[in-house]
Amino acid sequence: MIKINSFPDPIIEYDFENVYPPSDDTYLLIDYFKESVDEKYFDGINIKYIKNILDLGTGTGIIALFFQLITQNFVNFNPKIYASDILEEALICAKLNEKLNGIKKKITFIKSDLFKSFPLNLKNTFDIIMFNPPYLPSLDDLNEKDRELNIDYSWNGGIKGYELVLKFIEQARQFLNLHHKCYIYFINSSRTNLNDFNYILKQKGYENEILNKKHIFFEDIILNRLTLRKN
Ligand SMILES: C[S@@+](CC[C@H](N)C(=O)[O-])C[C@H]1O[C@@H](n2cnc3c(N)ncnc32)[C@H](O)[C@@H]1O
Repeated sequence: MIKINSFPDPIIEYDFENVYPPSDDTYLLIDYFKESVDEKYFDGINIKYIKNILDLGTGTGIIALFFQLITQNFVNFNPKIYASDILEEALICAKLNEKLNGIKKKITFIKSDLFKSFPLNLKNTFDIIMFNPPYLPSLDDLNEKDRELNIDYSWNGGIKGYELVLKFIEQARQFLNLHHKCYIYFINSSRTNLNDFNYILKQKGYENEILNKKHIFFEDIILNRLTLRKN
């Protein structure tokens, strides 16, 4: 069985002031996929069912590129990869990195605040959605006018730290392909009230599973996987 950890990581070279560089949270996602995706299964889902993958908040594009590069090695893994970000600068950076990795305009890039500007024909199509979001609590609310700097988009998750993630999860529901098992992966932090957050997720009909954790500086960062509960 071929494992992904035998493949080289994408090359990420472009350095933009407001674009989040790959960090511990990025690698919490990537390292999990290295262990849980192989030529037959994507984290337990038969790989032939994975047709559309979305990397929301793509930043440098590293996660989208990671998946695009896998498609070159696994013959039965042919999903269309989408990458979106609210920041134009991030999309410019991600497109340059796509070129740097020798990938010829295969990834579909979308500039959007969460799913707001997504084409309607993408509704009910994503088998896998992932978001390494801004997840830290701020003193300001999420209002556009309160954001001083574009780099704030990398960390400012709202007053409680989880408001943006909740908004994401609410909107993501319409874009998931619910015809078979599908997953949402996201990162959050022990700096937020996880009891409250998990309670809200349950109310919204999601099952949340913690896949991994890492302690860094003042917090644990946590990799979560959501599935929608069948009614
Ligand atoms: C922590 S960074 C993660 C970047 C990259 N995915 C990674 O893991 O290295 C969060 C990313 O989400 C983007 N972002 C923040 N708010 C967003 C929103 N409302 N809609 C779309 N993208 C957003 C930021 O611009 C930033 O690129």
